[in-house]
Formats: sequence, structure tokens, C-alpha cells
Amino acid sequence: MFNTIAGRYDFLNRLLSFGFDVNWRHQAIQFLRKKRPAQILDIATGTGDFAIKANSLKPEKIIGIDISEEMLKIGRDKILKKKLEGIIELQLGDAENLHFPDHSFDAATVAFGVRNFEDLQKGISEIYRVLKPGGAFVVLEFSKPDEFPEKQVYQLYTGILMPFIGKLFSKDKSAYKYLPESVKAFKEGKEFLAVMQEAGFTNLAMKRMTFGVVSIYYGEK
Ligand SMILES: C[S@@+](CC[C@H](N)C(=O)[O-])C[C@H]1O[C@@H](n2cnc3c(N)ncnc32)[C@H](O)[C@@H]1O
Repeated sequence: MFNTIAGRYDFLNRLLSFGFDVNWRHQAIQFLRKKRPAQILDIATGTGDFAIKANSLKPEKIIGIDISEEMLKIGRDKILKKKLEGIIELQLGDAENLHFPDHSFDAATVAFGVRNFEDLQKGISEIYRVLKPGGAFVVLEFSKPDEFPEKQVYQLYTGILMPFIGKLFSKDKSAYKYLPESVKAFKEGKEFLAVMQEAGFTNLAMKRMTFGVVSIYYGEK
């Protein structure tokens, strides 16, 4: 699905989030600022926006991995345009079978990716494995507002408007119907923190933003 929608992915991200996604990524990266990570792994990097944002931390190296070659191609073009090819490298790779040795990275990040993992616990445990002791993990992911009237507005927007706009602009007519469905099925909030804890993460923290439509999760190895 991501191979098919890659060409319009960035445009629809900005449009469907009313540009909020830029700030959400910024807020999530702030969780790593104190750690000053030198080696960063961005999982499910897609077109590389979160990896590019992580460059504001001035690391030595950022590796982004994704299973979609088409998303990566667009990401590589952006990185070349920004002259960041010496720092950011995008590779084909599966979150659930990371091709890196244990204790390789100071920080790991995933933006809008964990809800797509087939085996969530396995993916999170793999990320734990490749982090160095003391390494930090940040996740940015959609969540659902649970109070009136945000809940009702959200349901209307994601149930009707989002699939309609997605259908107009995207090559995959069902992709933006899949998005709210995958958010609905995702274990969010305390349930997701429990998955992180089960993998071994400690010093857990969570922050809900923009009426609860997205959440940041943080943990350390
Ligand atoms: C919604 S996009 C997010 C892209 C990017 N992180 C961003 O913030 O815009 C989700 C990405 O997860 C990737 N993905 C899904 N399952 C994956 C897996 N098991 N391993 C690596 N990438 C995966 C998809 O190919 C897609 O590019």
C-alpha cells in the first residue's frame, strides 16, 4: 500500500493533518534533546521526514529503515536536496527483523509506524535489542480523543472526510480508509506503554497532543 501512495504521501500528510504533523514531529524529537544521541535509528522512516527532523539533534549518523522501496526513493531525493546524504542513510529493512547487531544505537524513533507492525511486541523487542544500554526510544503515533465533542468531531473527520479527500488525491483508493481503521485497532495509551515495558523499556512517559489525536511515547533501555 505504501509503495502505491508514496508519490502523494507527503502532500496528503500536510493536507489531512492541517500542517500539524510538522509540529508533532518537532515535539517528539524534543524528548531526545537531553540525550544528545550520536547514532540514531529511525524505523518505518517512509519518506524520511522524522529522520530529517532528528538531524536537529546534530547526531553523527541517522539510519532510516522501511519496507517500502518507493517511500525510501522519495526520502533519498529529499535528503540529497537538503545535502544531508553524509548524515542520513535510508535502507530497506523490516522493523520486526532488524539487520543490526545488539547495542548499535543511542536512540531509536518511529513516527506513525508502530500501528502498521504485524507483530507489535516483536517489533518493539527488536528495537530494544539494537539500542545501547541507556539508549532512548521515542514513538509518535495516532490516538483517539475520548471526550465530547472532540471524539465526535474526530469520528466524523476520520470516518467520512479523510477517506473522501484521500480517495480524491491518492492512487490507492482505500489507503485513507485503512488509516482510521488501523488507528482504531492500535493498542494506544497505557496499553502501548505496557508493550514497551514488556520489551524491557523503563523510565516510561507519554504525552497526548492536539485533543488526543496523537501521542508521544518515551522509554529507555
Ligand atoms: C504512515 S508511514 C510513516 C512514515 C514516516 N515515519 C513519517 O513519519 O511520515 C508508515 C511507514 O511504515 C512502513 N512500515 C510498515 N511496516 C513496517 C515494518 N515492519 N518495517 C519497516 N517499515 C514498515 C511503511 O512502509 C510506511 O512507509
